[in-house]
Amino acid sequence: MEAVVLTISDSAAAGRREDLSGPEARRILEESGFTVRRIDVLPDERDAIESGLRSASAEGVDLVVTSGGTGLSPRDVTPEATLAVIDRQVPGIADLMRMESLKITPRAALSRAVSGIRGATLIVNLPGSVKGVRECLGVLRPILGHAVETLKQASLGCGE
Ligand code: MTE
Repeated sequence: MEAVVLTISDSAAAGRREDLSGPEARRILEESGFTVRRIDVLPDERDAIESGLRSASAEGVDLVVTSGGTGLSPRDVTPEATLAVIDRQVPGIADLMRMESLKITPRAALSRAVSGIRGATLIVNLPGSVKGVRECLGVLRPILGHAVETLKQASLGCGE
């Protein structure tokens, strides 16, 4: 199972802030059995995010995890970029993250994260903070492997 991590942050992309969320996502994904090909740090620009998502999917990675740009500021456009490139939404993934995160912080309501499939690639938006990445990937850990396996074997259903 292969993954790409996209950190979406103007300040990290400009080198004004170290990207700590991307490495945290990589650490958890590797613990969960994924090989992380790379972490790309992109600005909060729709074109850059859409093109990052398209290239990772075209490379055939199973999972793309984005971190950041899901909030309410005018520069937060990760969900819009994701919706523009996916073929189908997987609303339950974002529902699950928000539902479990709301037990930790009411601010979880402020993430507009979405999740979906482009080709055979699952794309999941996570919040930008290290804490948010850790909590949300912790919630998704039990289902990510099965989601990716199901996508790989498109002919198999969940029970097979
Ligand atoms: N979800 C979890 N599990 N833990 C968090 O700390 N932070 C919230 C929310 N989701 C948070 C979370 C906050 S404060 C914001 S503003 C939104 O995610 C959006 O974050 P983003 O703009 O960095 O993507």
